[in-house]
Amino acid sequence: MRLFMVFAIVIFAMPITGFGWAEGSNILLDPDLMCKKTRRLRGKMAEICRRDSALLKEIINGINLGFRECEFQFRNRRWNCSTLRKSMRKILMRDTRETGFVNAITAAGVTYAVTKACTLGNLVECSCDKSHSRRNGGQPQMVNAVTAVAALEKQQSVFERNSTKNPLRKGNGNRRRRLLKNIKFPEGEWEWGGCSDNVNFGFRHSRVFLDSKYRRRSDFRTLVKLHNNMAGRLAIRDSVRLECKCHGLSGSCTVKTCWLKMPSFREVGNRLREKFDGAYKVVLRNDGNSFMPESEHVKPPSKYDLVYSDDSSDFCAPNVRTGSLGTQNRECNATSLGPDSCDLLCCNRGHRHHVVSEWVNCKCVFKWCCEVTCEKCLETRDINTCL
Ligand SMILES: *[C@@H]1O[C@H](CO)[C@@H](O)[C@H](O)[C@H]1NC(C)=O
Ligand SMILES: *[C@@H]1O[C@H](CO)[C@@H](O)[C@H](O)[C@H]1NC(C)=O
Ligand SMILES: *[C@@H]1O[C@H](CO)[C@@H](O)[C@H](O)[C@H]1NC(C)=O
Repeated sequence: MRLFMVFAIVIFAMPITGFGWAEGSNILLDPDLMCKKTRRLRGKMAEICRRDSALLKEIINGINLGFRECEFQFRNRRWNCSTLRKSMRKILMRDTRETGFVNAITAAGVTYAVTKACTLGNLVECSCDKSHSRRNGGQPQMVNAVTAVAALEKQQSVFERNSTKNPLRKGNGNRRRRLLKNIKFPEGEWEWGGCSDNVNFGFRHSRVFLDSKYRRRSDFRTLVKLHNNMAGRLAIRDSVRLECKCHGLSGSCTVKTCWLKMPSFREVGNRLREKFDGAYKVVLRNDGNSFMPESEHVKPPSKYDLVYSDDSSDFCAPNVRTGSLGTQNRECNATSLGPDSCDLLCCNRGHRHHVVSEWVNCKCVFKWCCEVTCEKCLETRDINTCL
């Protein structure tokens, strides 16, 4: 019986995944189909799709990392970034700010996961960046403002192309100022050492995997999608920073080294969520291959900003067209004034209050060595759920 069910589900699922590349959404929901569906794999894509490729696994990990962070960032909102297929598929087929966030955070996730895998030595194709620490005639390379900025610039320059599609390029002064923010110098003499995160490889492969299907298209939605993917990758690349540590016997600090390190993925998520809150609604320009803010009083978005073209639904009620699951039965917070407040989360429909009691571990004591013993206490908790 169970075997039959599995079989039935497989058959049923086929037509759903069979179309949809045209909409572009399903790369994120079915990443391994990307390799199977692309007839003539060439160049970098072929490299990623090689059988049992560890790189492909890291890319898929990265997409999942992005989805998990999205769920975390939106856990208190009406749209909670549920990755239920029936919802996410619809979200990805539209062009709302939610779509933009998912595209950005997953593109960032791939950049992050692949870069981390390189640093940890888990991929044969790449490794961490030791170029700064290479000894120069036996002498260590010292870290100072000049070498640190140069190292960050090296990471950032590889993909800066003078694209006519992006008329918003900023001057170099801005850029140096931004770079210096990522460099906090400890006092004294420090040298380059260790493994720096090598963002370029992750950045490039995020781009190959997620963007290459669309690179030759120039319709409005594709422009928006590629912009948001790039904003996600830049949220990582341009916040790589200098990190320094002392090493030596019992904290003697005989060896002082610095290296380049990505921010935590949580920081990246926080930053992109801010961009979500300030996302720009854009329209196609007359030239047909770039966009501009819908409102003429708004300054143009930068490459770090998220953009969208469709207004979002309010996500109050379930709606199969928009992918909204509604907020019925969601837990709200009766004392909060934020988006998780009962009024906002429940869309003024009202909420139900109940008290639940549960046994939890309490009065835990640590016994030498190494055991923790706890008592069980009955704890009550107020729970409010949306009607
Ligand atoms: C980029 O290219 C355009 C035309 O191709 C040129 O006018 C512009 O000065 C270039 N910008 C930079 C920063 O090189
Ligand atoms: C997200 O919202 C859906 C629909 O209301 C709900 O079923 C799900 O439990 C929520 N997920 C989390 C993590 O709260
Ligand atoms: C509810 O909101 C208040 C105020 O923002 C906060 O202090 C509290 O921790 C929240 N409770 C829960 C269960 O999240």
